[in-house]
Amino acid sequence: MTQSTPSLVPRVLSTDGLVLRPFVEADEPAVAEAFHDRGILHWAVGRAVAGAPEAERAGMWLRLRILSWETGSAAFAVTDASDGTLLGSVGVRDVNRLPDQAVLGYWVTPKARGRGVATRALDAASRWSFAAPEKGGLGLHRLSLDHALLNPASCRVATKAGFRLEGTMRDFYVDADGQRHDSHLHARLATDRRPGAVTAAAP
Ligand SMILES: CC(C)(COP(=O)(O)OP(=O)(O)OC[C@H]1O[C@@H](n2cnc3c(N)ncnc32)[C@H](O)[C@@H]1OP(=O)(O)O)[C@@H](O)C(=O)NCCC(=O)NCCS
Repeated sequence: MTQSTPSLVPRVLSTDGLVLRPFVEADEPAVAEAFHDRGILHWAVGRAVAGAPEAERAGMWLRLRILSWETGSAAFAVTDASDGTLLGSVGVRDVNRLPDQAVLGYWVTPKARGRGVATRALDAASRWSFAAPEKGGLGLHRLSLDHALLNPASCRVATKAGFRLEGTMRDFYVDADGQRHDSHLHARLATDRRPGAVTAAAP
């Protein structure tokens, strides 16, 4: 049985050199720049955006992320805490579509890769998702994510952020070119032990 998905209160999360905040329209040039990366287009934005004319992709993707909070998903811009540069995105979608669960996804700009941005951002969004509502969190129990087997970087990020491998889903992911890929299912539970903390505040 599914539950309804009420709107979410927008939040800003701070963790270890990163600030995760809701996307704003002014992010469009940086998102457009990020979408020049083939990996992001292929694995992380969905077929509708990847198949749209290049000039429309960033705006199309961004509009849905800005609206996401009203429709039961949380899209965070991952930014550098020191200068505000957009480093990537982490999304918590389908919140409570299945009771106490959500699905996460992420990308990081090519320039920002290789320094733990995806791992830290995914971990911060997860902690917030598990945190109790009275502490500004979502109070969820189970978070899952998937990645194509051809994307070992995403597998490593998931594992490092505490999302255990649960199995392989055959032909699960349909890429931007319409090809189907077997995908790993990973999940992290609120009861899995992880160190550290994240602070959540209003934007
Ligand atoms: C996957 C992605 C998010 C990784 O971002 P990142 O910030 O560079 O990742 P991190 O720095 O947190 O790296 C975490 C681990 O992954 C490993 N990793 C990163 N890129 C890798 C690659 N291409 N191949 C294998 N391992 C890789 C890192 O070495 C690190 O492991 P280590 O600490 O044991 O060395 C980024 O490459 C990306 O945005 N790719 C395109 C979009 C995408 O695939 N999104 C996920 C869709 S499921």
